[in-house]
Amino acid sequence: MKVKKLVLLIVLSLVVMSCNRQETVEELADRVFKIAVEQVKLMDSMLEEGECPRSLNPDGSLMKSTIWWWCSGFYPGTAWLAYEYAQDEQVKDIALRHTVKLDSIRFRTNDHDVGFQLNCSYGNAFRLTGNKDFKAVLHDGAHSLATRLNPTIGCTRSWDYDGRPWDFPVIIDNMMNLELLLKVGQMYDEPELCEKAVSHADVTMKNHFREDGSSWHLVDYNPLTGNVNKKQTVQGYSDDSAWSRGQSWGLYGFTMMYQYTRDEKYLCHALKVADYLLPRLPEDGVPYWDYDDPDIPDAPRDASAAAIMASALVSLSEFVEGERSDKYLSAAENIVRTLASEEYLSEEGSNCGFILKHGVGFLKAGSEVDVPLTYSDYYFLEAILKLLKLS
Ligand code: GLY
Repeated sequence: MKVKKLVLLIVLSLVVMSCNRQETVEELADRVFKIAVEQVKLMDSMLEEGECPRSLNPDGSLMKSTIWWWCSGFYPGTAWLAYEYAQDEQVKDIALRHTVKLDSIRFRTNDHDVGFQLNCSYGNAFRLTGNKDFKAVLHDGAHSLATRLNPTIGCTRSWDYDGRPWDFPVIIDNMMNLELLLKVGQMYDEPELCEKAVSHADVTMKNHFREDGSSWHLVDYNPLTGNVNKKQTVQGYSDDSAWSRGQSWGLYGFTMMYQYTRDEKYLCHALKVADYLLPRLPEDGVPYWDYDDPDIPDAPRDASAAAIMASALVSLSEFVEGERSDKYLSAAENIVRTLASEEYLSEEGSNCGFILKHGVGFLKAGSEVDVPLTYSDYYFLEAILKLLKLS
């Protein structure tokens, strides 16, 4: 009897211990990518020729866009990342179909988001297949983007809106598009493309950031003199606030600049941004949509800002050592674990095929608030793949 009781106690303790054990990164990846593969397939089944996913409509149906919307590269990119992990041939076919439909973006010169659109789709397509046709699209796209550099200012122009109160608007998001210039410049040994990226990053570092490491959303320049006209927000809470996704774009952008150039000034800058952001995160790591919204803690969270930040932090952790490296890696892991929880992760077969919930697109315009977003999904999977490589 005594032995029976002891065995029972040991078994019970083992069950309790295994219930309390934290899921490993490998287990988390397995669980998330199983869902991601099915979600990618579900979304594909909802899209007609030429359509791209954007978000959810208020009635819960899939909000779609054309290929010209800035986010058109994220869904094919997400499919490529899901394929990279799962090696599912149906997902590869989906990734290919939704990549090649973006072909005409390669000649787009009227917007800066060519970088997002082509790098996430064709960039991953080329990385994972080695097909030279994909590389050629990246080459054309980089040259189209490079036409937007104004040499007097030293930046590529973000938006071409007529009738807006700007002469030459540059948004912090634009840092992300520089990766296309650097990647193509290095692949084709065309240093002038890299120089343009460096110029944009240097001018942005000088004009877009406040003393504390936070950034303005938009800086407007005078194209004749190169001087700053004004600094403001469009998507954030106020001109003085720190719009969360913008902070994440900046963190990712300068980490990426260091990754390609190995110039220490970019690393120092990325560290300054990270050290501004980390103490301001809620405990679970998912930022409110703007770090300075006075409605916090009742303001909406932004899963997209969290996912972009997690991916950047994993890379940043590799560029430094010791405690600092541990700090960035565990912050990234914390974010990823929260996003992989029931609160943020879609149930398989739900949400029109999106992987994450609770993103914020443009709150002040009442557009895309507390919804799934294609870029949340993309950077979430990217962050997990990066974490896996380190585990
Ligand atoms: N690049 C646009 C946005 O982050 O909303």
